[in-house]
Amino acid sequence: MNAYPIDLRSDTVTRPSPGMRAAMAAAEVGDDVDGDDPTVNGLQAHMAERFGFESALFFTSGTQSNLAALMAHCGRGDEYLVGQDAHTYKYEQGGAAVLGSIQPQPLENEPDGGISLERIAKAIKPDDIHFARTRLLALENTIGGRVLPPAYQRDVTEFAHANGLSTHLDGARIFNAIVKLEVGEKTAVAGFDSVSVCLSKGLGAPAGSVLVGPRDFIAQARRWRKALGGGMRQAGVLAAAALYALDHHVQRLADDHANAAYLAAGLNALGLHVEPPQTNILYVDIPAKQVPALTAHLAQRGILATITPRTRLVTHLDLPREKIDTTLQAFREFPDLIP
Ligand SMILES: Cc1ncc(COP(=O)(O)O)c(C=O)c1O
Repeated sequence: MNAYPIDLRSDTVTRPSPGMRAAMAAAEVGDDVDGDDPTVNGLQAHMAERFGFESALFFTSGTQSNLAALMAHCGRGDEYLVGQDAHTYKYEQGGAAVLGSIQPQPLENEPDGGISLERIAKAIKPDDIHFARTRLLALENTIGGRVLPPAYQRDVTEFAHANGLSTHLDGARIFNAIVKLEVGEKTAVAGFDSVSVCLSKGLGAPAGSVLVGPRDFIAQARRWRKALGGGMRQAGVLAAAALYALDHHVQRLADDHANAAYLAAGLNALGLHVEPPQTNILYVDIPAKQVPALTAHLAQRGILATITPRTRLVTHLDLPREKIDTTLQAFREFPDLIP
């Protein structure tokens, strides 16, 4: 049992384990802006091979990796199609527009997290002087903990390419989809021209994302990374944590999925409405008038959660089953939870 508090706010809250810290301390390093860091180079080569792409690039964060990808796909006055709920649209401060001069065309997400082909077809602008040039379709997997259906992924990427669009995947949690679907990395990202993969979410590294794609595309992204202030020097200490996570923390994501299902079942048994989780993220409805008192009640028991009327709870590697039991007990002890 680990000593950290019970933190259900996100899977980004995990701390590096002793094994990961030892790997970081032992990392061989060099100046990565000059391409001289052997551990970063090793991580990039590993990720390109693992996901079936020519090249890969290590970034400080998912936000920076996605933004550099959008800027490498699209130029000034181009447009990307993206879900209303997508991280690259909703949660990255509009960086594509602010810093990339790229117009987002947000589209409604379907309940399964995809965007319908009909909606995409209608949104692709004709070649006309009045319109931005529609260049790219950006999707996310997992999205809100949901796994994109593989048949949809095949159809939508084929459709995008047939209509002259490139395809980018925000795969911040692609390993959750891989473990859930029991497929290989290459299958999981089939149809995408580029993929951003986070190491600092469920995999438990302290920082870093890797963008994979064709060689020329990654060369362009490397230029943008420098402009965005993302050129790191002895980044091998972080790449070593990423490599450790890729070796040790992928298959165990199944434990997080099982814990999310267990937590959902326990909350459901208390009479709460819970959306059954597909991976490590679940949503539970909390009566609005109970939000402040429940937040305080959990905090008093050392449980951190962002309680809202639609509360998101996230399981991760610092939350073994006994901490889920403690959480359920705390919910049970809260008076008048059900209106
Ligand atoms: C789906 C998704 N994409 C991208 C990001 C951005 O990652 P970062 O926080 O490393 O910038 C996040 C962060 O939580 C995310 O959930």
